[in-house]
Amino acid sequence: MSRLRLGVNIDHVATVRNARGEGYPDPVRAAEMALAAGADGITAHLREDRRHISDADIEQLVVTCRRRGRPLNFECAVTAEMEAIALAHLPHAACLVPERREEVTTEGGLDIIKGHNTIAPVVNRLVSAGIRVSCFIDADPVQVAASKAVGAQVIELHTGAYCQAVRERRPEADALLQRLRAAATEGARLGLEVHAGHGIDYETVKPVAAIPELMELNIGHFLIGEAIFIGLGPAIQRMRALMDEARAVKAA
Ligand code: PXP
Repeated sequence: MSRLRLGVNIDHVATVRNARGEGYPDPVRAAEMALAAGADGITAHLREDRRHISDADIEQLVVTCRRRGRPLNFECAVTAEMEAIALAHLPHAACLVPERREEVTTEGGLDIIKGHNTIAPVVNRLVSAGIRVSCFIDADPVQVAASKAVGAQVIELHTGAYCQAVRERRPEADALLQRLRAAATEGARLGLEVHAGHGIDYETVKPVAAIPELMELNIGHFLIGEAIFIGLGPAIQRMRALMDEARAVKAA
C-alpha cells in the first residue's frame, strides 16, 4: 500500500485570530510548523465570506509552500471570484467544495451531477493551468462517476457523517464506513486519485486510513483544537503515527 499523505488544514488558526481582529495567531506560522512536524502539505479554504482565511493568507501560503517545496491545496467554492484567485496564484491543487454562507462548516459534498454544466468548464480551466483539481463529494458512486465526467483528477470523500456517527456512538457508523470504502474503490477503478477528509480525529483516523485506495487525508479542526493542549507539532505527529499504524496493520 502506498504511503498516505497528511494535509493539514490551518483554517481554524485564522478563526481564532479573527475572533479578536488581531494579527495572531498567524496561520502562515502554523503552516510552517505543520510542515516541520511532518505534514505533507497544507490545506486552506478561502471562504466567500472570508470568515477565517484571508486573501493575504493565501498569498503568503502560496509563497511558503513553494519555498518549502510542499503542496498547497486551495479549497474553494465554484465561483468566478475563486477561480480567478486560483488562476492568479496557481496553487498545486484546488479542491472544489460547496459553500453556503449560513453553514458552520462544509456540511455535505458538492453535487456534481446537478452542477455539471457549471463545474466542468471551471475544472477544465484550472486543469489547463496546471492545477490538480479535486471534487469534495459524499461517498456516493454516482457522485464519483460525475467527478470523473467533469474532468477532475482527484475526489475527496467527505468523512464528516461517518466521524460524527462514531463520536455519537450511532450504529450506522459501520454502514457509513462501508460507503466510504465502496466509493474509494469505485474512484480508484475509474482512475481517480482518492482523498478523504472532514471531522477526522484520533479515533476515526485509523479506520479511514486503512482504506487502501486513499492517497491523502486532510485534517484540520481536531488538530488545531488538540494543539491547544499538546502543541501543534505533537498533535500532527500523533495523527501521523496513527495513520502509519493503520496502514501497517492492513499490510501485515
Ligand atoms: N477537506 C475539506 C474539503 C474540507 O472542507 C475540510 C474542512 O474545511 C477538511 C477537509 C478538514 O475538515 P476538519 O477541519 O473537520 O478536519
